[in-house]
Amino acid sequence: MQKIIAALDQRRDEARLGGGQKRIDAQHGKGKLTARERLEVLLDPGSFEEYDMFVTHRAVDFGMEQNIIPGDGVVTGWGTINGRLTYVFSQDFTVFGGSLSETHAQKICKIMDLAVQNGAPVIGLNDSGGARIQEGVAALGGYAEVFWRNVQASGAIPQISVVMGPTAGGAVYSPAMTDFIYMVKDTSYMYVTGPDVVKTVTSEIVTHEELGGASTHTKVSSVADAAFDNDIETLLEVRRLFDFLPLNAADKPPVVAVNDTIDRAEPSLDTLIPDSAQKPYDMREVILKIADEGDFLEIQQDHAGNILVGFVRLNGGTVGVVANQPLVLAGCLDINSSKKAARFIRFCDAFSIPILTLVDVPGFLPGVAQEYGGIIKHGAKLLFAYAEVTVPKVTVITRKAYGGAYDVMASKHIRADVNYAWPTAEIAVMGAKGATEILYRSELSDKDKIAKRTADYEARFANPFVAAERGFIDDVIMPNGTRRRVARAFETLKNKKQAVPLKKHGNIPL
Ligand code: COA
Repeated sequence: MQKIIAALDQRRDEARLGGGQKRIDAQHGKGKLTARERLEVLLDPGSFEEYDMFVTHRAVDFGMEQNIIPGDGVVTGWGTINGRLTYVFSQDFTVFGGSLSETHAQKICKIMDLAVQNGAPVIGLNDSGGARIQEGVAALGGYAEVFWRNVQASGAIPQISVVMGPTAGGAVYSPAMTDFIYMVKDTSYMYVTGPDVVKTVTSEIVTHEELGGASTHTKVSSVADAAFDNDIETLLEVRRLFDFLPLNAADKPPVVAVNDTIDRAEPSLDTLIPDSAQKPYDMREVILKIADEGDFLEIQQDHAGNILVGFVRLNGGTVGVVANQPLVLAGCLDINSSKKAARFIRFCDAFSIPILTLVDVPGFLPGVAQEYGGIIKHGAKLLFAYAEVTVPKVTVITRKAYGGAYDVMASKHIRADVNYAWPTAEIAVMGAKGATEILYRSELSDKDKIAKRTADYEARFANPFVAAERGFIDDVIMPNGTRRRVARAFETLKNKKQAVPLKKHGNIPL
């Protein structure tokens, strides 16, 4: 018996060594943790249960039959994060460069199936040279099996991808179809074709980092949602994100104990809005002051800064926040911000996360580039998303809510549930100056007259009361009491039910 147990231990040790000490050292030399070390950071201590440690590939070409490593380049199983179940896979770059073989894919598919069946998220740690070249179409088929499952699982369970090394070619499309992508700065990259192919086809010369590094994907392409300095920091941030999310679509978002009273007033908000409507202020400050313990997990912080999206807690429960940011492009809506917010809103809806919208929006960004880029279609994404979602929606207009953007930003008319405005709100078709210049074009040469017209327009429309008179705004609230009013509004919406017409799915403008 002891001999048998010793043999098991030996087999396990062999599997744990992956591609061998030399390759482990090389992995460490690049500042990267190994696949198993990463899982130790990600999961609660001692919670990881590994499956399929003894699985091996079945390839026989190119001498592969002589080159067999148990586990086949990916560590799979389940564990807990702060006590809550998650399925995980972690690609092992020390084994055939973490490349995906038929059996490697089967291991990933197995835990994806279990995750959907058991209603728990999947977190994938990607570090791979792509499809196992020696296996050809068997490996490509493996990828497609993973892709198909990504799509089936979408909206059923949260899927989080962490890119911690190379992710090239077909390998990028599994992360791309998950809900969130986190990257590690300097050691990870994602692209459909690498710098060499790019040079051959388009004569462009770029480095790996420029083409697909964390900076490119968090700032320019928006493929990634956040990037952090190293493996450990990134994985700890994944734990933080996980804590905001429900385990599946039938689950409610978690409610955690917080050290913050809901009655906390914030007098500083009463003086936040500058006297001049032209002057910006930081909407992030409003979010931080409303949130439990000032905790705001921002998604896509480095992309489309004119809109802020992310998670906070109110009364310990998760709330998704969407907020115009007057500090960037005066908070205008444009193509990128519309896409960013629409995707976030739809994620919240899929997982029953209520949405708080903070509005200070002077309109859509004008310009040829925006029109040629399809702002009509992309702006419609945001409008469509807000109108489609059925989770509780509470809106607070802090200052400007002009034109079509007023309608779009979770207005009463597209079925926000509770709409508040600060006394500083200006709800109108446009700003007073622009309005008078159109209405009184013939008087433009008379400065005094125009000033008077502008002042009249301001007095009539640069306030929240015209909207409040019609019931489009439920109440004009003091800024200092926003946290309390918003949290209480969400309390009333806890059991909200909203029927939708029978359909297969809507047709959001893509
Ligand atoms: N299939 C099989 N083995 C692969 C592989 C793949 N797709 N990608 C990498 N490997 C192996 C290498 O042969 C090497 O094996 P070894 O340790 O026995 O020498 C090991 O993984 C590490 O690769 P290496 O190239 O030495 O690492 P690197 O850090 O210098 O480069 C990559 C990493 C990913 C840039 C490089 O390996 C690469 O370009 N791979 C192919 C990418 C690709 O085109 N994939 C197919 C598209 S889906």
